[in-house]
Amino acid sequence: MDNKKKAFIHTFGCQMNEYDSMRYAEVLQRHGYDMVDEPKKADMILLNSCSIREKAEQKLLSALGRYVVYHKNKPEMKIVLAGCTAQLRGVEIMKRFAEIDMVMGTDNSWRLEEWLQNPLSGARYLNRTSVEEYSFCSAAPGGGGVGVSANVTIMKGCDNRCAYCVVPAARGPRIDRPRGSIIQEVDKMVSAGAREIVLLGQNVNAYRRGPEGFAGLLKSVAERPGVSRVRFTTSHPRDLDIQTVKAVGETPEICPHFHLPVQSGSTRVLRRMGRGYTREDYLTRVGWIRENVPGAAVSTDIIVGFPGETEDDFNETMSLLEKVRYTFIYSFCYSDRPDTRAEKMTDGVEPEAASSRLAMLQRRQEEISTENLRSWVDKVGEVLVEGPSRQGNGQMMGRLPTFEIVNFGSEGSEELTGEVVRVEITAAGHHTLEGRHL
Ligand code: SAH
Ligand code: SF4
Ligand code: F3S
Repeated sequence: MDNKKKAFIHTFGCQMNEYDSMRYAEVLQRHGYDMVDEPKKADMILLNSCSIREKAEQKLLSALGRYVVYHKNKPEMKIVLAGCTAQLRGVEIMKRFAEIDMVMGTDNSWRLEEWLQNPLSGARYLNRTSVEEYSFCSAAPGGGGVGVSANVTIMKGCDNRCAYCVVPAARGPRIDRPRGSIIQEVDKMVSAGAREIVLLGQNVNAYRRGPEGFAGLLKSVAERPGVSRVRFTTSHPRDLDIQTVKAVGETPEICPHFHLPVQSGSTRVLRRMGRGYTREDYLTRVGWIRENVPGAAVSTDIIVGFPGETEDDFNETMSLLEKVRYTFIYSFCYSDRPDTRAEKMTDGVEPEAASSRLAMLQRRQEEISTENLRSWVDKVGEVLVEGPSRQGNGQMMGRLPTFEIVNFGSEGSEELTGEVVRVEITAAGHHTLEGRHL
């Protein structure tokens, strides 16, 4: 019988959390744990939490409710709460769920290692680290944990104060990771099998270390041996500079895709959100992209029903869809978050009005996204092959530089994983493309 201890990680929220969860998995493996997909079988459950919207926290609490039941049948099971909700509400949640052994805030991920050596129950690591003391957890990929596309964090936290957002409270001030440490990690990811590097941060355009800021970093990552593609997310429209746009246009390895969250098409709402740009500023940035990176994809995040949003404001968001023609959007109803400026605004939009605006927005975007996919039919695109398609029909799956997913079949295609291949697009579905390997 296999006596190795087993760990299960449940990750909520954004790619930052996904990145951190990979690091947690590496630490756990070093301490003799095997990772499993079934929480019931685990000797340790780590929840990496998110507080961005109320729903994310609700999902965390209901997952905790389920895991506590497993714990009853297996009292030696350890439960660790990490991530943004741990930072914001860890003490309160630990009181409510006595089964939690340890809470670890966002500046304390390095503590997991220490705690595993001495796993005292009731441990709380929630202090903020000063900018000088903060150190990034380096990846130690290996053991098959790295796919063709690998995330690399280039900063932690956020210095902005968008009125609706908990990230600055949950993750603290922005700290840029030293360039040498980023490059070292890129090289490690490539040695472990990655071909695409995704540079991650809440506002990557604000990266300031080394020559030429973020544009310089992008170019140096693109030059590393073995890197076929570079992506980056998230761009903040205020901080996106022309140098970055030009770097994307001039460097074949950097994918022509900008995820540029607008949040609202109305300058009045943007001002109340504290985003630091107007509708016109945003459209100027999109103009730079159109001019310097022909054929680039632009995608975005949108919040509807922000306090005080009128029908006219919302119509400005709708008209932005026509002007920019995003390839996809992530859209949300505004969710009130504790201790944010927006929470104190008294002119909230009725939830029914917000939901119907969201439905209208998503309906129109669905059409635009489908039109974009259809425009690919009969064209040839370069696909970085990520592995077998999820449909499980023997096809392979990869992405175009502009991020659309392509499923395609070909002889011996398993061996193509990690390669960039030419594919003729034969059909467009709702969210993906079908193709034929040339
Ligand atoms: N740093 C990124 C956003 C990270 S959060 C940026 O500035 O663009 C991801 C998305 O969640 C945001 O872009 C926003 O659209 C959404 N979001 C954040 N707080 C929210 C809230 N209180 N209610 C609804 N959506 C929210
Ligand atoms: Fe939140 Fe704004 Fe920072 Fe994005 S830029 S993480 S929305 S505060
Ligand atoms: Fe959520 Fe924290 Fe990311 S609040 S979206 S996990 S930074």
